[in-house]
Amino acid sequence: MEIASRLAAILGEAAVITDRERMLDYLVDETASPVRPQPADEVVVARPASAQEVASLLRLANDEGIPVFPRGGGTGLCGGAVPTENGIVLSLERMNGIALDKDNLMATVEAGATLGDLMAKAEEAGLFFPPHPGDESAQIGGLVACNAGGSRAVKYGVMRSYVKGVEAVLPDGDILRLGGKLLKDNAGYDLMQLLIGSEGTLAVVTSVILRLFPPLGASATMVIPYEGRHDAIDSVPEILRSGVMPLAIEYVDRSTVEVSAANLGLEWPCRAGKAYLMVIVDGESVVVVRSHCQHIYEICAGRHALEPAVGETRKDQERVLKIRSNIYLALKGETADILDMAVPPASMGKLMDAVDDIATQFGVTIPMYGHAGDGNLHAHLIKDLARSGPSAVREAKTLIYKETVKLGGTITAEHGLGKTRVPDMHLSLDETKLALMRRIKKVFDPRGILNPGCAISPE
Ligand code: LAC
Ligand code: ZN
Repeated sequence: MEIASRLAAILGEAAVITDRERMLDYLVDETASPVRPQPADEVVVARPASAQEVASLLRLANDEGIPVFPRGGGTGLCGGAVPTENGIVLSLERMNGIALDKDNLMATVEAGATLGDLMAKAEEAGLFFPPHPGDESAQIGGLVACNAGGSRAVKYGVMRSYVKGVEAVLPDGDILRLGGKLLKDNAGYDLMQLLIGSEGTLAVVTSVILRLFPPLGASATMVIPYEGRHDAIDSVPEILRSGVMPLAIEYVDRSTVEVSAANLGLEWPCRAGKAYLMVIVDGESVVVVRSHCQHIYEICAGRHALEPAVGETRKDQERVLKIRSNIYLALKGETADILDMAVPPASMGKLMDAVDDIATQFGVTIPMYGHAGDGNLHAHLIKDLARSGPSAVREAKTLIYKETVKLGGTITAEHGLGKTRVPDMHLSLDETKLALMRRIKKVFDPRGILNPGCAISPE
């Protein structure tokens, strides 16, 4: 491929992969029903080492009209990083520097550093990066490009809340530096927030400045069992207005979480109950945390909660979070699609009831769990649905999305549109918004080389 030798001339031979075997991992992500990638002989993988190299690569691609598929850790769930056309996969993995600024409580992090690297570096320096969007092998550039969410968003917010600066490269090779180590900045339109969540369709994020926090004084993870889901879900608004704001309020049920625990060879800490809230609480000392836990438990007891399992050691808490975070992978083999709707938090129970009704129509059970404190529900459309007919997955998905929108919700709260959600995006975005987005796309990327097919539909 001629483009491969031109890239090698810019980036060096070692930065370019054309070998099919070595390329395979760069063609996929974690989407349940894999998005069909372009055959390996029509794709080249490039691994630049600096923003300048990214700029040279993009200039070349833009001049030649070659599609570029920016890629982080490949942990996405809707095909966002999968090359679906002839072109260049742009992996940022070699750009993985992390520089901490303890005085300003900020970190300058290159796009290819992993979430795990950042968490470890912050901890070594006595600091803390609060959000936990699941898989710690996710790369920071991808987390920012997709505005990742995850479990610990209730108290501190999603990725967007932490990003204070972004360095990104435009398709014509210009390097944009937006924001900085600033907590307040009102100069002009907020282009930085526009790039966050734009899924690699407007510019390629090469480095970001992230806000850090002091470490948690103490924390605990409570698993609160209930006999039924409704009592668990109905406890959530009461917890949220109780004056103690947890880091996370997750909902899981017994059948789902036990599959995940068994998959890891671990044990879920509660034997009682069929439905659980997993609540993470922090505070300045163990005594304060215990009092917060007691306060929250009393609210839940008013909704018939059973005796909770409280993890106070790091090991116990990490084990519970690990089991929770592994649910998707444990169910992936039986999953045709995983949905990630959000509704106003107090409507989460209504959405779950609607999903159950839809499951009954198709004669299946649809496993559900999610970030209950955020109103963010995951529903696994299982492969078994196909027994009702070849279009059953699509029909069930459309019905669920329509119920979500009726409740004032969005079809995607954290995974993004990627490539697999584009056919449904009109359910969340009306024509006025879509038209504006298409015009913005043209301003940033007039030749349409950046991540074609992702996050935005053609007219
Ligand atoms: C989770 C992923 C699927 O919450 O978003 O486990
Ligand atoms: Zn999630």
